[in-house]
Amino acid sequence: MTETHYHFVAMTKDIAAGKNKAYIVEEHDILICHSKDEFFAVENLCSHAMAPLEGGRQRAYRLICPLHGASFDVRDGSVKGQPAFKPIRTYPLRVVDGRIEVALNAEAAPD
Ligand code: FES
Repeated sequence: MTETHYHFVAMTKDIAAGKNKAYIVEEHDILICHSKDEFFAVENLCSHAMAPLEGGRQRAYRLICPLHGASFDVRDGSVKGQPAFKPIRTYPLRVVDGRIEVALNAEAAPD
């Protein structure tokens, strides 16, 4: 069984409510979204035309791509509005003492 390893990304106070911020973690471009009172980690890449999602507006759990306006649910990456059709990747996230940590290998196939 593969052990889940969490990587430190940022402090919760670094990301205001309703905002998002991108971080490079072990070569993964990860967007942390502060939605309602929770934090979510998604890949910082729109599945429509591969634009960065950073700076996209948020409406509750919905993240809107700044380029053409596709929207995604930050909880599971599912598409909520076109022109995108494919979901975006999400990452497991936990908060420990105000520290946001994400797991990068959770979807890796076990050896
Ligand atoms: S690149 Fe995001 S909607 Fe087109």
